[in-house]
Amino acid sequence: MVSSKNIINKCLFPVAGYGTRFLPATKAMPKEMLPIVNKPLVQYAVEEAMEAGLTDISFVTGRGKRAIEDHFDVSYELETQINGTSKEKYLAGIREIMECCNFTYTRQREMKGLGHAILSAAPIIGDNPFAVALADDLCMQASDSNGVLAQMTEIFQQFRCTILAVQEVPHDEVHKYGIVSGEVMKDRLIRVTDMVEKPSVEEAKSNLAIIGRYIMTPDIFDFIRETPPGKNGEVQITDAIKAQSEKGLVLAYKFKGSRFDCGSVEGFVEATNYCFENHYYSE
Ligand code: G1P
Repeated sequence: MVSSKNIINKCLFPVAGYGTRFLPATKAMPKEMLPIVNKPLVQYAVEEAMEAGLTDISFVTGRGKRAIEDHFDVSYELETQINGTSKEKYLAGIREIMECCNFTYTRQREMKGLGHAILSAAPIIGDNPFAVALADDLCMQASDSNGVLAQMTEIFQQFRCTILAVQEVPHDEVHKYGIVSGEVMKDRLIRVTDMVEKPSVEEAKSNLAIIGRYIMTPDIFDFIRETPPGKNGEVQITDAIKAQSEKGLVLAYKFKGSRFDCGSVEGFVEATNYCFENHYYSE
């Protein structure tokens, strides 16, 4: 019998953050609903999860995030309006998601950091390994590989440990990311020996940045519970994973594909241009 500890079907989306860099657009709308061409950011990430077989989708939401729940639900008026018309094709993608995936929502009542957001979902996740996706990081697959989460679930089948997606970034940008250092194990895989959340250039031991895709084993919840507030007074997932890496194997994976930082206006514009040129078909 295959134990549930070997199978990942859950993906967690922390979406409680305010999106202040996109004000005023995000004043009354979740930043995850900002469209890249004609699809909201969060839908790209859910599609990536679905491609990886992660069909139990959980959101850690907050106040003002209702539009995300509505997006993954039926809109009767709209459906009735466009049934049988040429516009139905625009809903094909979201309909497929709704058929294939289950959705669960929980709220993070206080903004105490990404670690705290993930811990809020402990009752939903239970004693299972799970993926985490930050929708701000838009990951587009390379022509010769799967999406990033699918690449990571494959690695998990072999190593059964926490895995972080990483990418080399310019040295003057290390202060924006969790930075990882470690020993190269094999092509694209690094055994993590140290991690620091948003270090200065002087503090950073490498330029390997954590991108918003993780696979975590459920013991991470205990590590988060023991993690004191760190950078910016928030409970940082980076600190909890560092503690986990001191007790066992944690891997960083240099994924294949491109990634856009859609939490910044520049990255958002780049992603929009990229998706318009490469993925948008109006007919
Ligand atoms: C979070 C994590 C950070 C990671 C980043 C990836 O930071 O705390 O370690 O490198 O996501 O996007 P945030 O961008 O939410 O401040």
